[in-house]
Amino acid sequence: MGENTLIERLNEALGWELRAMNMYAHYAANIQGIHRLQLDPMFNEEATESLAHADVVRRAIVKLGGIPVTERNPHPIVHSTEFKEMLELSLETETKAAEVYGGIIVLLEEFGDQEMYDSIEQIYFAELRSLENLRLILA
Ligand SMILES: [Fe+2]
Ligand SMILES: [Fe+2]
Repeated sequence: MGENTLIERLNEALGWELRAMNMYAHYAANIQGIHRLQLDPMFNEEATESLAHADVVRRAIVKLGGIPVTERNPHPIVHSTEFKEMLELSLETETKAAEVYGGIIVLLEEFGDQEMYDSIEQIYFAELRSLENLRLILA
């Protein structure tokens, strides 16, 4: 497995994080009704988490000699003021993130950079936690 594949996959993850930052910040600002009390802070926290994840992934790409992407993943961010739709779209995003990081973890098992493996694994677990949390909120 070459470093180029790893850089490519990390850049894919970075694109999704940049998109997640925008999506969650948008939903935090737009959530209406009684659910705003809980979901404004929750979406804000997710936006902040995505910013932190993007930072880790960006630095991993640079460490590998790659150039981090500056554009978000083009998958549309759907505007809504409906809490249920926002949560469903959040679940979609977290499912995608977990899938991308799950693939990167497999590549990193071969790669032999323990620090990078551990930092990406932490992100992977965070995505799994968000995914499970959203699944339970929507249950
Ligand atoms: Fe993330
Ligand atoms: Fe996430």
